[in-house]
Formats: sequence, structure tokens, C-alpha cells
Amino acid sequence: MFYCIFFGDFLFFMMIPSDIIQQIKDRSDIFEVVNDFVSLKKKGQNYTACCPFHNEKTPSFSVSQVKGIYKCFGCGKGGDSVSFIMDIENLSYPEALRWLAKKYQIEIPDDDKPLTDEQINQFNEKESVFVIHEFAHQYFIQQLKNTDEGKTVGLSYFKERDFRDFIIDKFGLGYNPTGWNTFTKAALEAGFKEDTLIKSGLTLKTDKGALIDRFRDRVMFPIFSVAGRVIGFGGRIMTTDKKVAKYLNSPETPIYEKSKVLYGLNFAKKTIREKENCYLVEGYTDVISLHQVEILNVVSSSGTSLTIEQIRLLRRFTPLVTVLYDGDFAGIKASLRGIDLILEEGLDVKVLLFPDGEDPDSYSKKLGQVEFYEFLEKNTQDFITFKTNLFIKETINDPIKRAEGIKDIIASITKIPDVVKRELFFQLTAKLLDTKEEILISESEKIIQKEKKKAPLLEENKTQNNEETNVTNDENITEDKQKEGVFIFSREEKGEYKQEKELLHLILNYGELELIDEKPLLFFILNEIADLNFHIPLYQTMLDDMRLEAKFDRVAGKEYFLNKENEAIKNLVAELLMPKYTISESWEKKFMVFTPQEKDHVLVNVQEVILRLKIFYILRMIKENEKNLKNAETEEAQDNCLMVGLKLEAMRKEIAKGLNNAIF
Ligand code: CTP
Ligand code: MN
Repeated sequence: MFYCIFFGDFLFFMMIPSDIIQQIKDRSDIFEVVNDFVSLKKKGQNYTACCPFHNEKTPSFSVSQVKGIYKCFGCGKGGDSVSFIMDIENLSYPEALRWLAKKYQIEIPDDDKPLTDEQINQFNEKESVFVIHEFAHQYFIQQLKNTDEGKTVGLSYFKERDFRDFIIDKFGLGYNPTGWNTFTKAALEAGFKEDTLIKSGLTLKTDKGALIDRFRDRVMFPIFSVAGRVIGFGGRIMTTDKKVAKYLNSPETPIYEKSKVLYGLNFAKKTIREKENCYLVEGYTDVISLHQVEILNVVSSSGTSLTIEQIRLLRRFTPLVTVLYDGDFAGIKASLRGIDLILEEGLDVKVLLFPDGEDPDSYSKKLGQVEFYEFLEKNTQDFITFKTNLFIKETINDPIKRAEGIKDIIASITKIPDVVKRELFFQLTAKLLDTKEEILISESEKIIQKEKKKAPLLEENKTQNNEETNVTNDENITEDKQKEGVFIFSREEKGEYKQEKELLHLILNYGELELIDEKPLLFFILNEIADLNFHIPLYQTMLDDMRLEAKFDRVAGKEYFLNKENEAIKNLVAELLMPKYTISESWEKKFMVFTPQEKDHVLVNVQEVILRLKIFYILRMIKENEKNLKNAETEEAQDNCLMVGLKLEAMRKEIAKGLNNAIF
């Protein structure tokens, strides 16, 4: 009976009338629903994003607002609003309906019948832990605001910290009083079971069997899920007792997996998406203080360094992370590795260093809103520059340390998956360090070789298969590798295959347009890549056909290939013609700013893809040439290789410059 009164909208197991279900489904807008969780980009009639259900870097997840459905072409998941919520929030069908009902403020009539034991048992473990967190959340707020102790100890602490009322409310801050078991007692009285309390981590059982609160005499910071449900707490001690940890956090529970949660993301996600940037800070107070100066795109991991899962979570919302550091040198050095991890996941990283002894919390208060904004604007720098300058400063009189530092920087750059960005950073760093770019690049090559040797083949195969289904699914990887049953690509190869596919996509969609000199675009492309061949045999077959047809002044385009009796080619062409096939996110971003239509910048795209392919081609020749140089037996042969090397190097630079211009 009690559950009925207390849990209000948590009665997931009660029947929902069918007309209400229909109403919920009608009202639910798939775009709005999905967009709460992933950053959707308009793409023609549809929206796309990186799939939230599997790990990927180029979006294959697509939403049709008109049809009310979503579909991932990478992992296959698809359905309507209800199934999306079921999947992403891990809810049952009726739970998902209630979730949507809440979002759209549709009332589900409660029926007043007392619940049977069986119904109560239907609370699954997770839900009961959710519910007790909701109870605890309200309890701690109540204690903070409506008790003498809460007001004099907790609330005045927040006031001292300059937290305003609206921010205390927004973040649901609370207080748990002194005493051993004030919360636990209240929860037991309210009818919660001991078992649930212990599972929630909010109550501990002593050796003697007594139940006590985990958090005592602490101000409480609720931790929210992305969707905004309370899933844990952080509690800050009120005494200055050095022996007790200043912050205590919830343990892992059925609803709280620390490594997958970012504090503040529920409040920040919308702004992160708008600004395409997320500030990363150390803890609760920094997040809250930044909100107070109206910087809303900020999150923190709970007192630990960032995990892969957290980075991937962020990647759903933004291509860029800005790390805010307090001015503590040891702390900075310790966190540099963590940043490499962010780079490796394909995010851009910027950093901002605070003056010694200041953190975002203290400094935002010191400067006030306007000056703090200016400080952010003026002092944010890209990570590689930051790291390079750090080492220059640190190793000014120590050549050995300096060499180590340079290697470290090169290692960071090597982690960046995008070949063009990498190239840009090598140029930049060479300038900063006053060395030759070639040295940096050859050092980078060494690192790649080493990594390759280190990684066990199968391991590599596994990660690549689930990362880049696009490439690995093509039935036609180099034949000898295929025979061995393993596809192993270097990062370069993967990038190259993607560009080949991209060029085919452009050709099939726009090859017939007469954009230059009243000739079909395809002829221009074929001319540009006259010296190149594709590495994926299927792609090459198509290229051969195009070249042959062009000799007769004919365009081998979509009609031509769709009429061929080759199943593999037909499938590929269909895929490349589908609107779901999108160009890489970063390009999209760059061009979306001006015109949303791919068609409008076909020429720029074509030129960029061709330049990228040429870079890969030259890099391959450079490697080949280096091998020849090693094996050269006569002086004449050596000289010859050196000359070729110089020429290739010059060509590489020329192309890189072209790309630079094309991009910026
Ligand atoms: N933090 C933590 N665990 C700790 C110390 C800090 O999780 N043992 C996190 C908290 O989230 C905190 C942030 O790091 O918000 C900043 O740390 P700190 O400045 O030490 O915490 P404050 O509460 O600001 O303490 P003080 O008033 O001493 O500055
Ligand atoms: Mn502090």
C-alpha cells in the first residue's frame, strides 16, 4: 500500500491504458527523443550521428523524423521512440512508455488498488535502487533546507562558498546530518528494505550487524545520469579532520558505474552540442562554479582520470574537449597520458592553465563572469602546442631530457587518427622546436612500427572489426590477407581505403555533373588520378571500367554499374547512393557552416579526397625508397635514392600545403 503513495511515477508495473499508449507514441518525436542522447546533424531529409549503441567514428546512425524511426547501418539496431528509450536507458517496454509520458507531460491515470506482493516483487533490483536514490535525494534536500542543523552547517557552508540559491536548487545539493544512521533510519521508517539500502551503497552494515549511513555529517552532491536521474552521491566532509577523506563517493552499484558517468553531463549536453566544445574540470565544485558564471558546457569525472568510456560518451556530443588545469605542475604531468587517450579517440583537445594555486572554482569567483570569459578566450591553447611549450620550458638546459620530451610529444601526435591533422601538428611542432619535420615524422614511424609489433594480431583484428565495419565488411580486402582469414590494416591503410570509397561515392553521385569546362566531373577526376590505383580490388574493378568507358567518351556512372551482373558491385553502389552514406563528421562540420548540401561543395570535396589519396601514395613511395636506400650497394645507387627521396619529400610538402589551403 505504502509504495502506492510514495513512489508516484515509479509504478512501472501498473497497466497503461492502450489509448494512453497510442497518445504517447503519437506525441513522441523521434528527433527530440534521440537528440536528448546523441548529437544529431541534419543530413538531407534525415538526421545522422555516431551510433550510441556501438563504437564508431563516422556516423552510420540515421534518424528519419518523418517516418518516426532510427536505424544504425553499422550495428543494425533500429526502431521507434519507445524502442530507442528501451535500448539506451535499459528499460522495459512499460518503463520506456512512462519515460516518454513524463517527457511529454502525458498523464497516466493511477489506479488506486493496493499492490499485491507479487507486484511489489516486480520492482527489479535496478528500479528499487533508483527509487531509494530518489528518496535519499529528497531527504538530503529536506535536511539542508528545513532543519536547524542543515541550515546552520550545510546551507551556510554553501553560502560561504558563494553558491546561490538557484544553483543549490539546480544541482539538488543537500545535507546529511551528524549521527550514525539518520538517513538509514528515515529510509527504514519509510518502508525501504535493508537489503535494498545496502545494495544502494547508501547504508553500510557493521560487523556487529548495525546499519549505518555511508555519508555522515556531509554536504551532498547528487550525481545524475545523462537522462537526469539520481544514480549516486558525492559527500564533502564538514570538519577539517585530516584523517577523514574530504570527499566520499558512492560505490559501484547496479545503477552507478563510475567509469561511465560524467558529473554534470545531464545539465551540459545541450550546450556542449551547441558550442561544440566541452570543458573538463576536476570535480563537483568546479562544475557548479562554472554554471554560476553561466558556462554550462562543463563536466568532470568523479575524482579520477578520464576513462575510455567517458571519452566515448563525450564524443557523442562534441568533437572538442577543453581541459582546465589548476596550476599545479605535478598534477599536469600526471594527467598528460590521459589526454593522449582523448586524442587517440579522435577528439581535438585544448587546454587552459590556471595561475598557481587557482582552480576553476576559485578563479571564476575571483575574476567574475566577464573577466573569466576573457581569461578563457585568451589563454586556451591547443594541446600539442601546450605540451611542446611545457617541455621546452622544462628542459632548457638538459639536452637528454629534452630528447625524451620530444619523443613524448611525437607519441602524442602519433595517436591522432586523422592523417591530415597529424601532418599539421608535425609542421607546427617542428616550428616550435626549431627542428626538421622529417625527423619528427621518422620518429613517429618508429613508434607506429613498435606498436604494431607489440599488438597481438588477433587483438588488433578484433578492435578493427568493430571499429570500422565500413571497411572490413568489404568483401574484397587484399587477397593474400583474406586467404589467411585475418584482415589487418595499419591506420594508414584504413584511412586510405576510406578515401577510395569516398571518391567512389562522389563519382557515383556527381560524376556526370558538368562542373568544369563543360565536361563530366568524372573525366576531371580520372585525369587527376591517372597515376593512382585503388587498393580494394572491387573498387579497382570499377575504376578500370570507368577508365575504359571514358576512352569512348562515356561516363560509367550509377546506371552503368547498377545494370551490371555483379552482385558485389551492385551492393556497393546501392550503399554509396543511399543518403545514409555520409562523409566524415569533421568535413561535414566544416562545410555545414556554409551550406548544408553536399552537392554545393562537390568540387572542394573531390579535390580534398584526391589530395588525401595522393598523400598516402607518396608516403608509400617514400617508404619504398627508404628501403631501396638501405639495400643500395653502390654509391651511385645511394645517390640516386637520395635524389628521389628529396623529390618525394618536396612533393609531399606541396600536397600537404594544397590540403592545408583546401581545409583552412
Ligand atoms: N575531489 C574529490 N576527492 C577529493 C578531493 C577533491 O573528488 N579527495 C574533487 C571534488 O569533486 C572537488 C574537486 O575535486 O569538487 C576540487 O577539489 P578541492 O578544491 O580539493 O575541493 P573543495 O571542496 O573545493 O575544497 P577546498 O574548499 O579545500 O578548496
Ligand atoms: Mn577548491
